[in-house]
Amino acid sequence: MIAMDPLKTLHISCAAISIAGFVLRGGWMLIDSPLLQARLTRVLPHVVDTLLLGTGVALALLSAQYPFVQSWLTAKIVALVIYIGLGMVALKRGRTKAVRLAALAGALLTFGYIVGVALTRSAGLNWS
Ligand code: HEM
Repeated sequence: MIAMDPLKTLHISCAAISIAGFVLRGGWMLIDSPLLQARLTRVLPHVVDTLLLGTGVALALLSAQYPFVQSWLTAKIVALVIYIGLGMVALKRGRTKAVRLAALAGALLTFGYIVGVALTRSAGLNWS
């Protein structure tokens, strides 16, 4: 296998850790676990997600690919905002468990879309 750019490796690792942590917290939400409120549970995702965003921005700058220029990056950012919003509803804001579960499913689908966009460098729409 060709050696991968270490920045990209870090970016993909953060993405994997981020979704694994989100799934874990989603499970804790569903079983009403107090672990969801633990200090580490609240702090660690911010560290990982900041690194994910930071390495993403660095990759974009270094490869001279920009959101609103490369439409796949635009799609990625828009989907990221939707993923964060749905994630907040799923883990915190949703008033009933049904709402939180629906938001959790939507967030996971959105994350899948982001990975698809990343791998194909295409928004999957016609305006690419
Ligand atoms: C949930 C958030 C994200 C996920 C799951 C994700 C996932 C990925 C993956 C899997 C790759 C590797 C694609 C490949 O095989 O080449 C990648 C590359 C990349 N990502 Fe992300 N990413 C996320 C957020 C971001 C953000 C916020 C930005 C920019 C601000 C960004 C910019 C990039 C760039 C520029 C590349 C390199 C593409 C290339 O090699 O040309 N990513 N991302």
